[in-house]
Amino acid sequence: MKLRVAILISGGGSNMVKLLESMGADHLAEPCLVMANSASAGGLAKAAAHGVPTAAIDHKPYGKDRAAFEDALMAQLDAAKTDIICLAGFMRVLTPHFIARYEGHMINVHPSLLPKYKGLHTHARAIDAGDTQAGCTVHEVTAKLDDGPIIMQASVPILADDTPDTLAARVLIQEHRIYPMALQRFATYFINRY
Ligand code: GAR
Repeated sequence: MKLRVAILISGGGSNMVKLLESMGADHLAEPCLVMANSASAGGLAKAAAHGVPTAAIDHKPYGKDRAAFEDALMAQLDAAKTDIICLAGFMRVLTPHFIARYEGHMINVHPSLLPKYKGLHTHARAIDAGDTQAGCTVHEVTAKLDDGPIIMQASVPILADDTPDTLAARVLIQEHRIYPMALQRFATYFINRY
């Protein structure tokens, strides 16, 4: 039986599409759900076009009640019999309430060479610091933000005329390359671990 992968997104979902495309017939895993925190996330239609079930849980009606929002996410994940969660541009911070439940089952792609530049605006911060290299990281998700064990990284040069947008585009190409490889590696660990 294949491992069941749920992918959480907030936006266009280009990484999510690369993950879906990577899970072919001979992959250890298969997609079971793509879920967004807004019905307007562009990636939902792309997932549906790939024949993957989708769900949208809007975080706004939950206000400050993050636990209730996360309970709604968990209900969908459990109904889909999720083994592995991939965060792919999911822009809500998850609390220990959620992470404790799925630790060891969840990976994330972050647009920096962790441990540098946790959080937001990673490309602007790398340019402002005068760095010569930027990149991306796929890591396991633990209770501390952008901090879990690193599975894979890729670096790109920062060019003299880079803006945050030009750098983000160069890094995103690498995210698309390494996230599917990292998922495959994590699925292999996962099968041996559980
Ligand atoms: C990606 O660059 C991803 O690394 C970043 O959001 C983008 C989503 O793009 N994630 C974060 O910043 C998480 N802190 P996509 O929707 O096209 O995959």
